[in-house]
Amino acid sequence: MSRLAVVFGGSRGIGRAVSQLLAQRGHRVVLLSRNKEAARATAESLPGEKHLGLSCDVSKEEDVQRAFETISKNCGTVGYLVNAAGINRDALLLRSKSEDMLSVLQTNLLGSMLTCRGALRSMLSHGGAIVNIGSVVGVKGNSGQCVYSASKAGLEGFTRSLAKEVATRNIRVNLVAPGFILTDMTAALEKEEAARRIPLGRFGEPAEAAQAVLFLLESPYITGQVLLVDGGLRLAL
Ligand SMILES: NC(=O)c1ccc[n+]([C@@H]2O[C@H](COP(=O)([O-])OP(=O)(O)OC[C@H]3O[C@@H](n4cnc5c(N)ncnc54)[C@H](OP(=O)(O)O)[C@@H]3O)[C@@H](O)[C@H]2O)c1
Repeated sequence: MSRLAVVFGGSRGIGRAVSQLLAQRGHRVVLLSRNKEAARATAESLPGEKHLGLSCDVSKEEDVQRAFETISKNCGTVGYLVNAAGINRDALLLRSKSEDMLSVLQTNLLGSMLTCRGALRSMLSHGGAIVNIGSVVGVKGNSGQCVYSASKAGLEGFTRSLAKEVATRNIRVNLVAPGFILTDMTAALEKEEAARRIPLGRFGEPAEAAQAVLFLLESPYITGQVLLVDGGLRLAL
């Protein structure tokens, strides 16, 4: 059955790969990012018709509210929500600036809370599925990523709690925790050295993370779970 899928952070990277997979499966996709042109261009590149690219900064409550008003007016009831909007500002805690700490928490953690709240209003009557994107460092921690790791660990607690809160309404909430995936976020990393730490010996492709997202969206009896997509990296950390 075709559903309306809303993908925050859908213009690039993992969110873009999720949008492509959802569109290939025949779902209608609304994808959002701060850069409106990039969101529109990605929406136009998807297979099928009626996909939409909108501008939205998930760290701003009024932006998220406006986005869901536009979606409900023009596209109908949300069936799937994917929260792939995220940023990192990696630094040792002692060198971290407060404004960077706030940006990371407001985008990665508060942003997903706001979008989930927005989508739930639409999902309550028909059920639905949500996948948040965490990180292996939210599970294991990492030096130089205290704030990023806290935002992702927070998202895990949020995911499990929300899963309990909305299960009786037939809404499932899960989290995919990627390791190193080849996107703009990891573009500056020295790949060979980092890959040596990964048991499978390589970075993941965005499509490989997207596959796990789709699995959780479509699995009717899974909720409140954290699924690592990390080439085994957790085992080595
Ligand atoms: N790549 C990895 O190795 C990796 C590993 C673990 C977890 N993750 C997580 O996976 C998610 C996707 O990461 P990625 O690697 O695909 O990153 P990416 O290639 O940098 O893409 C990030 C996406 O999020 C959007 N975005 C960023 N800030 C936003 C905001 N405030 N409001 C709305 N959209 C925003 C970006 O578009 P605009 O810039 O136009 O807004 C873009 O579409 C993130 O949550 C990241 O933390 C990634």
